[in-house]
Amino acid sequence: MKKSNQIFLDACNGFPTKRTPVWIMRQAGRYLPEYRKIRSKATFHQMMHKPDLMTEVTLLPMKRFELDAAIMFSDILVIPESLGMKFDLVPKVGPVFNNRISNDNDIKNLNYNNDYFKNIYKGISSIRSDLNNDKSLIGFAGAPWTVACYMLEGKPSKDYMSLRSLMIEKPDSFKLLMEKITDATINYIDGQIKSGVNVIQIFDSNGTYISKDHYEKYSLPYISKIIRHINSRNIPSIYFAKGLCNDVDLILKNEPKVLGIDWTVNIGDIKNKIKNKVVLQGNLDPSVLLCSNQIIKQEVAKIIDSIGNNQGHIFNLGHGITPNVNPISVEFLIQTVKQLSKK
Ligand code: CP3
Repeated sequence: MKKSNQIFLDACNGFPTKRTPVWIMRQAGRYLPEYRKIRSKATFHQMMHKPDLMTEVTLLPMKRFELDAAIMFSDILVIPESLGMKFDLVPKVGPVFNNRISNDNDIKNLNYNNDYFKNIYKGISSIRSDLNNDKSLIGFAGAPWTVACYMLEGKPSKDYMSLRSLMIEKPDSFKLLMEKITDATINYIDGQIKSGVNVIQIFDSNGTYISKDHYEKYSLPYISKIIRHINSRNIPSIYFAKGLCNDVDLILKNEPKVLGIDWTVNIGDIKNKIKNKVVLQGNLDPSVLLCSNQIIKQEVAKIIDSIGNNQGHIFNLGHGITPNVNPISVEFLIQTVKQLSKK
Protein backbone atom coordinates (compact mmCIF):
# COMPACT_ATOMS: atom_id res chain seq x y z
CA MET A 1 0.00 0.00 0.00
CA LYS A 2 1.42 3.42 -1.04
CA LYS A 3 0.80 6.83 0.53
CA SER A 4 -1.95 8.72 -1.28
CA ASN A 5 -3.18 12.32 -1.47
CA GLN A 6 -5.99 11.47 0.97
CA ILE A 7 -5.08 11.98 4.62
CA PHE A 8 -8.01 9.78 5.72
CA LEU A 9 -6.96 6.88 3.50
CA ASP A 10 -3.34 7.23 4.64
CA ALA A 11 -4.43 7.05 8.28
CA CYS A 12 -6.55 3.94 7.55
CA ASN A 13 -3.48 2.34 5.99
CA GLY A 14 -1.40 3.14 9.08
CA PHE A 15 0.83 5.87 7.60
CA PRO A 16 1.84 8.81 9.81
CA THR A 17 -0.15 11.96 8.93
CA LYS A 18 0.55 15.64 9.60
CA ARG A 19 -2.59 15.85 11.75
CA THR A 20 -5.43 13.53 12.78
CA PRO A 21 -8.09 13.11 10.07
CA VAL A 22 -11.72 13.64 11.07
CA TRP A 23 -15.23 12.71 9.93
CA ILE A 24 -18.48 12.20 11.86
CA MET A 25 -20.85 9.24 11.87
CA ARG A 26 -24.26 10.34 10.52
CA GLN A 27 -22.67 13.59 9.30
CA ALA A 28 -25.30 13.92 6.54
CA GLY A 29 -28.34 14.02 8.78
CA ARG A 30 -31.07 15.90 10.55
CA TYR A 31 -28.89 18.26 12.63
CA LEU A 32 -28.25 20.13 9.36
CA PRO A 33 -31.01 22.64 8.43
CA GLU A 34 -30.18 22.09 4.74
CA TYR A 35 -30.81 18.33 5.22
CA ARG A 36 -34.18 19.03 6.86
CA LYS A 37 -35.13 21.33 3.99
CA ILE A 38 -34.47 18.63 1.37
CA ARG A 39 -36.14 15.99 3.54
CA SER A 40 -39.32 18.13 3.84
CA LYS A 41 -39.76 17.81 0.06
CA ALA A 42 -38.48 14.26 -0.54
CA THR A 43 -38.96 10.85 1.02
CA PHE A 44 -36.00 9.06 2.62
CA HIS A 45 -36.14 6.49 -0.20
CA GLN A 46 -36.01 9.19 -2.87
CA MET A 47 -32.93 10.62 -1.15
CA MET A 48 -31.28 7.20 -1.27
CA HIS A 49 -32.28 6.18 -4.80
CA LYS A 50 -32.20 9.36 -6.88
CA PRO A 51 -28.51 9.73 -7.77
CA ASP A 52 -28.71 13.56 -7.87
CA LEU A 53 -30.35 13.79 -4.45
CA MET A 54 -28.02 11.16 -2.97
CA THR A 55 -25.05 13.19 -4.23
CA GLU A 56 -26.42 16.48 -2.96
CA VAL A 57 -27.18 15.13 0.53
CA THR A 58 -23.83 13.31 0.85
CA LEU A 59 -21.99 16.53 -0.01
CA LEU A 60 -23.96 18.82 2.36
CA PRO A 61 -21.56 18.37 5.31
CA MET A 62 -18.55 18.57 2.94
CA LYS A 63 -19.65 22.03 1.76
CA ARG A 64 -20.15 23.32 5.27
CA PHE A 65 -17.16 21.78 7.11
CA GLU A 66 -13.55 20.81 6.42
CA LEU A 67 -14.08 17.07 6.87
CA ASP A 68 -11.59 14.58 5.45
CA ALA A 69 -14.12 12.01 4.24
CA ALA A 70 -17.68 11.86 2.96
CA ILE A 71 -19.93 8.89 3.74
CA MET A 72 -22.40 7.98 1.02
CA PHE A 73 -25.95 8.81 2.01
CA SER A 74 -27.85 5.55 2.41
CA ASP A 75 -28.90 3.14 5.17
CA ILE A 76 -27.92 -0.33 6.38
CA LEU A 77 -31.52 -1.45 5.68
CA VAL A 78 -31.11 -1.43 1.89
CA ILE A 79 -29.90 -5.04 2.17
CA PRO A 80 -33.30 -6.36 3.38
CA GLU A 81 -34.90 -4.36 0.56
CA SER A 82 -32.55 -5.97 -2.00
CA LEU A 83 -33.82 -9.32 -0.65
CA GLY A 84 -37.46 -8.36 -1.26
CA MET A 85 -38.53 -6.66 1.99
CA LYS A 86 -39.71 -3.05 2.23
CA PHE A 87 -39.55 -0.45 5.03
CA ASP A 88 -40.94 2.99 5.70
CA LEU A 89 -39.53 5.56 8.06
CA VAL A 90 -42.22 6.24 10.61
CA PRO A 91 -41.85 9.52 12.56
CA LYS A 92 -40.81 8.94 16.21
CA VAL A 93 -40.49 5.15 15.61
CA GLY A 94 -37.82 4.73 12.92
CA PRO A 95 -37.70 2.15 10.13
CA VAL A 96 -40.73 -0.17 10.07
CA PHE A 97 -40.98 -3.16 7.69
CA ASN A 98 -44.43 -3.92 6.33
CA ASN A 99 -43.54 -7.62 5.90
CA ARG A 100 -41.21 -8.70 8.69
CA ILE A 101 -39.82 -12.26 8.71
CA SER A 102 -42.07 -14.45 10.83
CA ASN A 103 -41.44 -18.05 9.67
CA ASP A 104 -39.03 -20.37 7.84
CA ASN A 105 -40.75 -19.81 4.50
CA ASP A 106 -40.18 -16.06 4.74
CA ILE A 107 -36.45 -16.80 4.98
CA LYS A 108 -36.51 -19.27 2.07
CA ASN A 109 -38.39 -16.72 -0.04
CA LEU A 110 -35.77 -13.97 0.36
CA ASN A 111 -34.41 -13.44 -3.13
CA TYR A 112 -31.47 -11.17 -3.89
CA ASN A 113 -32.09 -8.60 -6.63
CA ASN A 114 -28.88 -6.96 -7.83
CA ASP A 115 -30.84 -4.37 -9.83
CA TYR A 116 -32.09 -2.87 -6.59
CA PHE A 117 -28.74 -1.10 -6.22
CA LYS A 118 -28.36 0.36 -9.70
CA ASN A 119 -29.22 3.96 -8.77
CA ILE A 120 -27.14 3.76 -5.60
CA TYR A 121 -24.13 2.79 -7.75
CA LYS A 122 -24.84 5.71 -10.10
CA GLY A 123 -25.02 7.97 -7.06
CA ILE A 124 -21.64 6.73 -5.79
CA SER A 125 -19.96 7.45 -9.16
CA SER A 126 -21.50 10.90 -9.20
CA ILE A 127 -20.38 11.66 -5.62
CA ARG A 128 -16.86 10.42 -6.34
CA SER A 129 -16.55 12.65 -9.40
CA ASP A 130 -17.89 15.73 -7.55
CA LEU A 131 -15.75 15.21 -4.43
CA ASN A 132 -12.27 16.80 -4.29
CA ASN A 133 -9.67 14.13 -4.91
CA ASP A 134 -7.99 14.71 -1.54
CA LYS A 135 -11.22 13.66 0.24
CA SER A 136 -12.14 10.01 0.71
CA LEU A 137 -15.53 8.47 0.04
CA ILE A 138 -16.72 5.92 2.60
CA GLY A 139 -19.11 3.15 1.56
CA PHE A 140 -20.83 1.01 4.18
CA ALA A 141 -23.08 -1.88 5.11
CA GLY A 142 -24.49 -3.28 8.33
CA ALA A 143 -23.12 -6.38 10.04
CA PRO A 144 -25.44 -9.34 9.19
CA TRP A 145 -26.48 -9.76 12.84
CA THR A 146 -27.46 -6.07 13.18
CA VAL A 147 -29.36 -6.10 9.87
CA ALA A 148 -31.15 -9.37 10.75
CA CYS A 149 -32.34 -7.85 14.06
CA TYR A 150 -34.49 -5.41 12.06
CA MET A 151 -35.66 -8.05 9.56
CA LEU A 152 -37.07 -10.28 12.32
CA GLU A 153 -38.44 -7.60 14.60
CA GLY A 154 -39.70 -5.40 11.77
CA LYS A 155 -38.83 -2.25 13.71
CA PRO A 156 -36.36 -0.86 16.29
CA SER A 157 -36.64 -2.89 19.50
CA LYS A 158 -35.16 -2.79 23.00
CA ASP A 159 -34.06 -6.42 22.99
CA TYR A 160 -34.36 -8.08 19.51
CA MET A 161 -35.81 -11.22 21.08
CA SER A 162 -37.21 -12.57 17.79
CA LEU A 163 -33.79 -13.03 16.24
CA ARG A 164 -32.24 -14.27 19.50
CA SER A 165 -34.84 -16.99 19.87
CA LEU A 166 -34.57 -18.00 16.18
CA MET A 167 -30.80 -18.32 16.61
CA ILE A 168 -31.17 -20.65 19.61
CA GLU A 169 -34.22 -22.65 18.57
CA LYS A 170 -33.73 -22.95 14.80
CA PRO A 171 -30.03 -22.69 14.02
CA ASP A 172 -30.50 -23.96 10.43
CA SER A 173 -33.04 -21.28 9.53
CA PHE A 174 -30.88 -18.70 11.27
CA LYS A 175 -27.85 -19.86 9.28
CA LEU A 176 -29.74 -19.63 5.97
CA LEU A 177 -30.83 -16.09 6.85
CA MET A 178 -27.30 -15.02 7.79
CA GLU A 179 -25.87 -16.57 4.62
CA LYS A 180 -28.37 -14.75 2.44
CA ILE A 181 -27.60 -11.42 4.13
CA THR A 182 -23.83 -12.05 3.95
CA ASP A 183 -23.87 -12.96 0.24
CA ALA A 184 -26.03 -9.94 -0.61
CA THR A 185 -23.71 -7.69 1.44
CA ILE A 186 -20.58 -8.96 -0.31
CA ASN A 187 -22.16 -8.34 -3.72
CA TYR A 188 -23.28 -4.89 -2.64
CA ILE A 189 -19.82 -4.01 -1.31
CA ASP A 190 -18.23 -5.09 -4.59
CA GLY A 191 -20.65 -2.83 -6.45
CA GLN A 192 -19.76 0.07 -4.14
CA ILE A 193 -16.04 -0.49 -4.70
CA LYS A 194 -16.48 -0.67 -8.51
CA SER A 195 -18.48 2.58 -8.37
CA GLY A 196 -15.71 4.44 -6.56
CA VAL A 197 -15.78 4.22 -2.74
CA ASN A 198 -12.32 4.32 -1.12
CA VAL A 199 -13.06 2.63 2.23
CA ILE A 200 -15.87 0.44 3.62
CA GLN A 201 -17.25 0.67 7.16
CA ILE A 202 -19.27 -2.18 8.68
CA PHE A 203 -21.78 -0.90 11.27
CA ASP A 204 -22.48 -3.40 14.06
CA SER A 205 -24.71 -1.40 16.36
CA ASN A 206 -26.60 -4.37 17.83
CA GLY A 207 -23.72 -6.75 18.55
CA THR A 208 -24.25 -6.72 22.31
CA TYR A 209 -27.68 -8.30 22.49
CA ILE A 210 -26.09 -11.77 22.62
CA SER A 211 -23.50 -13.45 24.83
CA LYS A 212 -19.82 -13.45 23.85
CA ASP A 213 -20.08 -17.18 23.04
CA HIS A 214 -23.06 -16.61 20.78
CA TYR A 215 -21.36 -13.65 19.13
CA GLU A 216 -18.34 -15.76 18.34
CA LYS A 217 -20.40 -18.65 17.00
CA TYR A 218 -23.34 -16.91 15.31
CA SER A 219 -22.27 -13.39 14.33
CA LEU A 220 -18.49 -13.18 13.98
CA PRO A 221 -18.10 -15.77 11.16
CA TYR A 222 -20.33 -13.71 8.84
CA ILE A 223 -18.70 -10.38 9.72
CA SER A 224 -15.25 -11.84 9.23
CA LYS A 225 -16.24 -13.28 5.83
CA ILE A 226 -17.30 -9.78 4.74
CA ILE A 227 -14.22 -8.08 6.17
CA ARG A 228 -11.84 -10.63 4.63
CA HIS A 229 -13.55 -9.95 1.33
CA ILE A 230 -13.02 -6.17 1.67
CA ASN A 231 -9.37 -6.77 2.62
CA SER A 232 -8.92 -8.96 -0.48
CA ARG A 233 -10.02 -5.99 -2.61
CA ASN A 234 -7.21 -3.83 -1.14
CA ILE A 235 -9.65 -1.34 0.33
CA PRO A 236 -9.39 -0.45 4.04
CA SER A 237 -12.10 -2.03 6.20
CA ILE A 238 -13.49 -0.31 9.30
CA TYR A 239 -15.44 -2.35 11.85
CA PHE A 240 -17.59 -0.27 14.21
CA ALA A 241 -18.47 -2.66 17.00
CA LYS A 242 -20.71 -0.72 19.36
CA GLY A 243 -20.65 -2.10 22.90
CA LEU A 244 -18.03 -4.75 22.17
CA CYS A 245 -14.91 -2.59 22.49
CA ASN A 246 -13.83 -4.09 25.82
CA ASP A 247 -13.35 -7.40 24.05
CA VAL A 248 -10.75 -6.25 21.55
CA ASP A 249 -9.17 -9.68 21.19
CA LEU A 250 -12.54 -11.10 20.20
CA ILE A 251 -13.53 -8.38 17.71
CA LEU A 252 -10.06 -8.28 16.17
CA LYS A 253 -10.65 -11.86 15.02
CA ASN A 254 -12.65 -10.16 12.26
CA GLU A 255 -9.35 -8.73 10.97
CA PRO A 256 -10.44 -5.15 10.21
CA LYS A 257 -7.78 -2.60 9.25
CA VAL A 258 -9.51 0.02 11.42
CA LEU A 259 -11.51 -0.51 14.60
CA GLY A 260 -14.30 2.00 15.26
CA ILE A 261 -14.82 2.33 19.00
CA ASP A 262 -17.73 3.72 20.98
CA TRP A 263 -17.50 6.37 23.69
CA THR A 264 -17.82 4.04 26.69
CA VAL A 265 -14.18 2.94 26.65
CA ASN A 266 -10.91 4.83 27.13
CA ILE A 267 -9.23 5.06 23.76
CA GLY A 268 -5.76 5.14 25.38
CA ASP A 269 -6.48 1.82 27.15
CA ILE A 270 -7.60 0.28 23.86
CA LYS A 271 -4.49 1.58 22.12
CA ASN A 272 -2.31 -0.09 24.77
CA LYS A 273 -4.18 -3.36 24.36
CA ILE A 274 -3.95 -3.50 20.57
CA LYS A 275 -0.24 -2.56 20.37
CA ASN A 276 -0.54 -0.90 16.92
CA LYS A 277 -2.13 -3.99 15.34
CA VAL A 278 -4.97 -1.84 13.93
CA VAL A 279 -5.83 1.82 13.48
CA LEU A 280 -8.45 3.22 15.88
CA GLN A 281 -11.40 5.44 15.01
CA GLY A 282 -13.42 7.39 17.57
CA ASN A 283 -14.52 8.01 20.21
CA LEU A 284 -15.95 11.31 21.50
CA ASP A 285 -19.19 10.94 23.44
CA PRO A 286 -21.86 12.39 21.07
CA SER A 287 -23.41 14.27 24.03
CA VAL A 288 -20.27 16.43 24.29
CA LEU A 289 -21.51 18.22 21.15
CA LEU A 290 -24.39 19.57 23.26
CA CYS A 291 -21.91 21.22 25.66
CA SER A 292 -19.96 24.50 25.57
CA ASN A 293 -16.91 25.01 23.33
CA GLN A 294 -14.73 24.88 26.41
CA ILE A 295 -15.95 21.38 27.26
CA ILE A 296 -15.69 20.26 23.63
CA LYS A 297 -12.05 21.40 23.55
CA GLN A 298 -11.26 19.70 26.85
CA GLU A 299 -12.79 16.37 25.72
CA VAL A 300 -11.09 16.46 22.31
CA ALA A 301 -7.76 17.15 24.04
CA LYS A 302 -8.25 14.10 26.31
CA ILE A 303 -8.66 11.84 23.28
CA ILE A 304 -5.78 13.32 21.29
CA ASP A 305 -3.50 13.20 24.37
CA SER A 306 -4.30 9.59 25.14
CA ILE A 307 -3.43 8.59 21.58
CA GLY A 308 -0.16 10.48 21.82
CA ASN A 309 0.88 10.96 18.20
CA ASN A 310 -0.57 11.34 14.72
CA GLN A 311 -0.40 7.73 13.82
CA GLY A 312 -3.07 5.10 14.01
CA HIS A 313 -5.98 7.36 14.84
CA ILE A 314 -8.98 8.81 13.00
CA PHE A 315 -11.11 11.23 14.98
CA ASN A 316 -14.87 10.55 15.13
CA LEU A 317 -17.71 10.39 17.61
CA GLY A 318 -18.34 7.16 19.51
CA HIS A 319 -21.74 6.83 17.74
CA GLY A 320 -23.85 8.90 15.34
CA ILE A 321 -24.38 12.64 15.76
CA THR A 322 -27.86 13.43 17.13
CA PRO A 323 -30.43 15.73 15.48
CA ASN A 324 -30.34 18.25 18.38
CA VAL A 325 -26.69 19.29 17.79
CA ASN A 326 -25.93 22.83 16.63
CA PRO A 327 -23.81 22.76 13.42
CA ILE A 328 -21.70 25.59 14.90
CA SER A 329 -20.46 23.14 17.55
CA VAL A 330 -19.52 20.68 14.79
CA GLU A 331 -17.49 23.40 13.08
CA PHE A 332 -15.71 24.11 16.38
CA LEU A 333 -15.05 20.40 16.97
CA ILE A 334 -13.43 19.92 13.55
CA GLN A 335 -11.22 23.01 13.90
CA THR A 336 -10.21 21.91 17.40
CA VAL A 337 -9.21 18.40 16.26
CA LYS A 338 -7.08 19.92 13.48
CA GLN A 339 -5.43 22.46 15.77
CA LEU A 340 -4.69 20.11 18.69
CA SER A 341 -3.41 17.26 16.55
CA LYS A 342 -1.09 19.34 14.33
CA LYS A 343 2.56 18.52 14.70
O1 CP3 B 1 -23.45 8.50 8.43
C1 CP3 B 1 -24.09 9.04 7.50
O2 CP3 B 1 -24.27 10.27 7.42
C2 CP3 B 1 -24.57 8.15 6.34
C3 CP3 B 1 -25.89 7.68 6.39
C4 CP3 B 1 -26.42 6.65 7.38
C5 CP3 B 1 -27.77 6.63 7.76
N1 CP3 B 1 -28.00 5.51 8.50
C6 CP3 B 1 -28.76 7.65 7.36
C7 CP3 B 1 -30.02 7.75 8.09
C8 CP3 B 1 -25.81 5.54 7.98
C9 CP3 B 1 -24.36 5.11 7.95
C10 CP3 B 1 -26.83 4.81 8.68
C11 CP3 B 1 -26.58 3.55 9.40
C12 CP3 B 1 -27.65 2.92 10.16
N2 CP3 B 1 -28.97 2.91 9.88
C13 CP3 B 1 -27.43 2.14 11.34
C14 CP3 B 1 -26.10 1.81 11.96
C15 CP3 B 1 -25.49 2.92 12.70
C16 CP3 B 1 -26.20 3.39 13.93
O3 CP3 B 1 -26.58 4.58 13.96
O4 CP3 B 1 -26.37 2.62 14.88
C17 CP3 B 1 -28.70 1.69 11.77
C18 CP3 B 1 -28.96 0.84 12.99
C19 CP3 B 1 -29.66 2.17 10.83
C20 CP3 B 1 -31.13 1.92 10.82
C21 CP3 B 1 -31.86 3.18 10.93
N3 CP3 B 1 -32.04 4.10 9.90
C22 CP3 B 1 -32.53 3.68 12.07
C23 CP3 B 1 -32.57 2.98 13.42
C24 CP3 B 1 -33.09 4.90 11.71
C25 CP3 B 1 -34.01 5.76 12.54
C26 CP3 B 1 -33.39 6.29 13.75
C27 CP3 B 1 -32.71 7.59 13.47
O5 CP3 B 1 -31.56 7.77 13.85
O6 CP3 B 1 -33.38 8.42 12.86
C28 CP3 B 1 -32.75 5.17 10.35
C29 CP3 B 1 -33.10 6.36 9.56
C30 CP3 B 1 -31.97 7.21 9.06
N4 CP3 B 1 -30.83 6.71 8.48
C31 CP3 B 1 -31.91 8.65 9.05
C32 CP3 B 1 -30.69 8.98 8.42
C33 CP3 B 1 -30.18 10.36 8.11
C34 CP3 B 1 -32.99 9.61 9.52
C35 CP3 B 1 -33.83 9.86 8.33
C36 CP3 B 1 -34.81 10.99 8.44
O7 CP3 B 1 -35.79 10.89 9.20
O8 CP3 B 1 -34.62 11.97 7.72
